[in-house]
Amino acid sequence: MNTIIFFITFMVLSTQTMIANQVNQMIGDEYQAMVETREIIGTIALTFDDGPGRYTDAILDVLYEHNVKATFFVLGHAVQKSPDTFLRTVEHGHEIGNHTWFHENLPKLTPSGVFETMRRTADLIEQLTDKFPATMRPPFGIFGTREQVIMEELGYSMILWSLDPRDWELRNSQQIYDYVMENVRCGDIILLHDIHESTYKAVAKLVPSLIEKGFDLVTVEQLLEETRPGQVYRRRD
Ligand code: NI
Repeated sequence: MNTIIFFITFMVLSTQTMIANQVNQMIGDEYQAMVETREIIGTIALTFDDGPGRYTDAILDVLYEHNVKATFFVLGHAVQKSPDTFLRTVEHGHEIGNHTWFHENLPKLTPSGVFETMRRTADLIEQLTDKFPATMRPPFGIFGTREQVIMEELGYSMILWSLDPRDWELRNSQQIYDYVMENVRCGDIILLHDIHESTYKAVAKLVPSLIEKGFDLVTVEQLLEETRPGQVYRRRD
């Protein structure tokens, strides 16, 4: 009698295990198919200017959740105000670029003024990270030949952008999201600002959608692969 009960129990248990294995196998196949159908169509770079700001940490959380990297063009005075958020950005493996100390319009400064705003910001970045920034973005995207010569001398490549959803002006997450999703192409450098709530809300939707569309979200230096000081970059051609 005991033998029969044992045998029945054994049969029931092994059938359950078989079913469980089959289910796992089916989920595994489905997952594999999902991974295989997500074809990478190319790289793009999200860039965030004028921070660290009020929404930088929330944006860092989104990027971390989806395991993607971005580039932050920071203002020296904002780094001085929020060193913890700045260090968190660095610890998460994002790229840091120099965006001047006070967001000065560079052509309006004296030559020593240009050197000073760049140096002061770079010194603070270097002091906190042990790394000198390799890229810079001129405030408002405004620069002349003089600025190019100075940036070459200081060792910065100049990073502009190829896609501008005008997040600072729109302040509407749905419109920012729609503009990017409708216009994004491989090799794009996307201009955003981590100081607006609407930008954070747009980014929370954009990151998973861009990944789903097949884009690999990388830093500017990863996107461009090789940059030269004094050279201006708008996208990866
Ligand atoms: Ni700016």
